[in-house]
Amino acid sequence: MEKIRSIIKEITKLEKDLLSEQESLLRGALSILEKKIKNKDAKTIELQKDIIAKQDEHFSLFSLNRQQSIQKLNIVLNRLIGRDYNLSDSEHWLLFAAIANAKINYKKILEIGTANGVTAAILSLLFPKAEVTTIDLPRDSEKFRNTYGRANVADEVAQKRDQFLQDFSNINFIELNSIFLDSWSKNTFDLIWVDGAHGYPVLPIDLYNSCRLIKNNGLVIIDDVFLRLRKSDQTYKSIAAVETLKLFKETGVIKDFKLIRKRLSLSYNFKDLNEKFLGIFEA
Ligand SMILES: C[S@@+](CC[C@H](N)C(=O)[O-])C[C@H]1O[C@@H](n2cnc3c(N)ncnc32)[C@H](O)[C@@H]1O
Repeated sequence: MEKIRSIIKEITKLEKDLLSEQESLLRGALSILEKKIKNKDAKTIELQKDIIAKQDEHFSLFSLNRQQSIQKLNIVLNRLIGRDYNLSDSEHWLLFAAIANAKINYKKILEIGTANGVTAAILSLLFPKAEVTTIDLPRDSEKFRNTYGRANVADEVAQKRDQFLQDFSNINFIELNSIFLDSWSKNTFDLIWVDGAHGYPVLPIDLYNSCRLIKNNGLVIIDDVFLRLRKSDQTYKSIAAVETLKLFKETGVIKDFKLIRKRLSLSYNFKDLNEKFLGIFEA
């Protein structure tokens, strides 16, 4: 028993060392990249252009025009946060703008995970004729109160969000744990943004419910898809999304899925260090 305890201790230490090694590698890589950008290094500029071109191609797989959606998104972002989109922003905003350009008949949208309400507001302005339902955990639940830096300020955060959302008449905010979405009617939504819990056991349940709730030809988009991780958790980081999507594809629950980069700036795309994706599938 003593020997097992000592091995576990050793492994825990190794894992910690590996994580700190990974962080230091990332810091080093970022500083090299900064210098290359400052010196307008031709290869670095080319690499950035390639990433953007590939993202444009990925959008077109879903008949979406990424470049044409930038202007539409900028109008909305300037109204809400006073600035234009940039390559460090999450591409889900641009995806929504591209969808708003292409699929003008979308009437019902669901966001799982409201947080401060900014994405719900973006959806509301991009789809003024749609009803945007957005859900987040009940404010008195332990998970709501102790995640996303809300310890000691959970009530203020919830009040601020409620106040902010009041300005958008087509937003329907509900305090609900997403695991109860199983009681909602099938084929209800044209678009679902899955951005609540990011790990096991909740995320696979959210994806399963999304498959039921999405209408034919509707789109489900999933945030923060990691391909591999040294350490996973239930709330922020896990490979649950990619594992569940692969299982759904293998078993025919969905026809296919695609992963696209979450952010395009090179500083967010160091392989095995900080790469993140958005998952997309069509029902
Ligand atoms: C990453 S934030 C959402 C960010 C937001 N959707 C956006 O696009 O900016 C995740 C949110 O999901 C909520 N959440 C976590 N688990 C949930 C669950 N089981 N049901 C509903 N909401 C959940 C958290 O409280 C948190 O506010």
